[in-house]
Amino acid sequence: MATGIFYTTSTGNAGEIAREISKQLGNIDVIELNKENLSKINDYDKLIIGVSTWGDGELNDDFEDVWDDFCQLNFNNKTIALFGLGDQEGYPDEFCSAMGIIYEQVKAGKIIGFTSTDGYEFDSSKSNIDDKFVGLVIDEDNQDHLTQQRVENWVNEIKSDIL
Ligand SMILES: Cc1cc2nc3c(=O)[nH]c(=O)nc-3n(C[C@H](O)[C@H](O)[C@H](O)COP(=O)(O)O)c2cc1C
Repeated sequence: MATGIFYTTSTGNAGEIAREISKQLGNIDVIELNKENLSKINDYDKLIIGVSTWGDGELNDDFEDVWDDFCQLNFNNKTIALFGLGDQEGYPDEFCSAMGIIYEQVKAGKIIGFTSTDGYEFDSSKSNIDDKFVGLVIDEDNQDHLTQQRVENWVNEIKSDIL
C-alpha cells in the first residue's frame, strides 16, 4: 500500500508544500509530474495531488501539459487527498479553482481531507463544494503565516487514511 505525492508548480510554492507534507508524513515519495513520469501514478494506491491555479481559474501550465493523459488514468480504487495553492485577494472569483478541476476528474476514488472555508475571503471557487474545500488550500500570497499550521492540521487529519 504505497503513498505518493504528485504535484506541479510554476514558481515553486506547490513543491515546498509537497515536501513539507512528505516530511510530516515521514518522508513519503514526492514526484513533480511530467509526461514521462505520469504513469507512475499507477504504482500508488494512495495519492496526494497538488496544483496551483493560474490564468483565471485554470490548471498551472505543467498540469495542463499532462492533463489529457491524466484523464485516461483510473482512480476508482485509490484513496486521494488534494491540495491547492491560490491567491484569494488577487483572484477572488476563481480562488484555488484548479484543485476543484482535478477533484472532478478523480472523484470516482475515495477523496479524503476536505477542509473548512473559514478563515479565507473569496467570492467563488471551483474547489468549494457544499461549503467545504475539496482539499487543503494554501495561500502563500496573503496568508503564508498560516501555512505551517494549516499543513499540520490537515496532515493529522488524513494521516490514518493516507499511510
Ligand atoms: C498570472 C497569474 C495568474 C494567477 N491566477 C490565479 C487564479 O486564477 N486563482 C488563484 O487562486 N490564484 C491565482 N494565481 C496565484 C497562484 O496560484 C499562487 O501565487 C500560487 O502560490 C503559485 O504557486 P506555484 O508557485 O506552485 O505555481 C495566479 C498568479 C499569477 C502570477
